[in-house]
Amino acid sequence: MTTSLRIGLAGLGTVGIGTYKILAGQADMLRDRCGRPLEVVAVSARDKSKDRGVDLSDVRWADSVHAMARDPDLDVVVEMIGGADGDAYDLVRDALDHGKHVVTANKALIATHGVELARRAEEKSLTLAYEAAVAGGIPIIKSLREGLVANKVSRIIGILNGTSNYILTTMEETKRPFEDVLSEAQALGYAEADPTFDIDGTDAAHKLSILTSIAFGAEVAFDAVRCEGIEQISPLDFQYAAEFGYRIKLLAIAEEGEGGLLQFVHPTFVPAETPMADIDGVYNAVVVEGDAVGRTVYEGRGAGEGPTASAIVADIADVARGQAQPVFLTPVAKLQPYRQGDFDARRGKFYLRLSVKDRPGVIAQISRILADRDVSIESILQKGTEADGAVVVVLMTHQSSEKAIADALAGIEALDDVMQPSCRIRVMEL
Ligand SMILES: NC(=O)c1ccc[n+]([C@@H]2O[C@H](COP(=O)([O-])OP(=O)(O)OC[C@H]3O[C@@H](n4cnc5c(N)ncnc54)[C@H](OP(=O)(O)O)[C@@H]3O)[C@@H](O)[C@H]2O)c1
Repeated sequence: MTTSLRIGLAGLGTVGIGTYKILAGQADMLRDRCGRPLEVVAVSARDKSKDRGVDLSDVRWADSVHAMARDPDLDVVVEMIGGADGDAYDLVRDALDHGKHVVTANKALIATHGVELARRAEEKSLTLAYEAAVAGGIPIIKSLREGLVANKVSRIIGILNGTSNYILTTMEETKRPFEDVLSEAQALGYAEADPTFDIDGTDAAHKLSILTSIAFGAEVAFDAVRCEGIEQISPLDFQYAAEFGYRIKLLAIAEEGEGGLLQFVHPTFVPAETPMADIDGVYNAVVVEGDAVGRTVYEGRGAGEGPTASAIVADIADVARGQAQPVFLTPVAKLQPYRQGDFDARRGKFYLRLSVKDRPGVIAQISRILADRDVSIESILQKGTEADGAVVVVLMTHQSSEKAIADALAGIEALDDVMQPSCRIRVMEL
């Protein structure tokens, strides 16, 4: 008789319960596909008495994550608690140290401690898998590690955070301001009570740093992601974006730059006719450009019970079939130290929105400052007077460097006739 894979589930929230439902509800199908039963032997969460809407009476309750990590009856521990440190970290580290495979949905953990944990896993030939941590139900880790293994990747572009994408899509559709749409998203359960990591780009940066490591063979460098959130986007920006032929998305981009790698998360003007521009609401998408395959595009639900649990179970199935992979595709011992490229030298087009006093000569002053930094203007729009007597001036530049734009903006904002804050959005070209 084939032996079952004995599973411990730590965390019984949205993802944990979703995973239990699939493992219990699709047990026969999964047994046939994996060649052995996938059996949930133990579970753990904070509150044993909580009604979780599923029958867990046949499953052993582990009183702590420490007990689960040491449980000799488990082959694999699934961490669905969350957080870069604390119990989630302790559980994953201890489970590996006690010879158990680990599956996790935790991007903060992998982005922060991934290399160290991968080293522990690889030393013992154990699996540390995290498909659910990036882009939810989209099998992007599997695609990079398996389907695209033959490729040298030159660029990854992702919409990796469903909450911010939902907010941007709703702002564009309803012409309502950021704060208003964020409150509604919280009321509807699309945004957390504390949405900071979603809207300031941190969540997307965690995910990007993981993809970068796999795709470019470098150690995970979350701190090296240059990150801007969506807080400064106004309904006006969507209107101007449409006039120029673009939509606004929070993109996460990793690419080869001058002297090394560049990782960015920032709001971006995306050409309206491209697939990325059509990714709306809570959906995620990833574009991977490889030297042999060219451009590939992946799209799907980036979060939620079903999609996330789907990715977790895929990792569990790999463990059941004995399909261990190096954690970041390149074995940890051969990962390169992260080489930081030159952010200032990166070139592209920029959209600038300025609020200026309605006085003669202001536009001439702005144009002069831009020209002094070699920034040439592709188009300029001036719209009607606002209630405070200001006019909105919108500029689209030709190709310029990050440094030239930053210097020019500093000069422009120092002018007496320019009101704060101005807005700069990078423009994606294809
Ligand atoms: N939700 C998504 O759509 C999604 C998508 C992709 C990745 N993820 C990741 O998946 C993980 C879980 O997310 P979630 O949305 O399922 O969170 P959640 O609904 O808040 O559930 C967290 C679970 O962890 C348990 N827990 C907290 N501290 C614990 C501890 N010290 N020991 C044992 N259990 C503990 C909680 O117990 P109680 O229930 O008793 O309080 C709860 O069951 C996170 O890393 C998240 O980033 C989530």
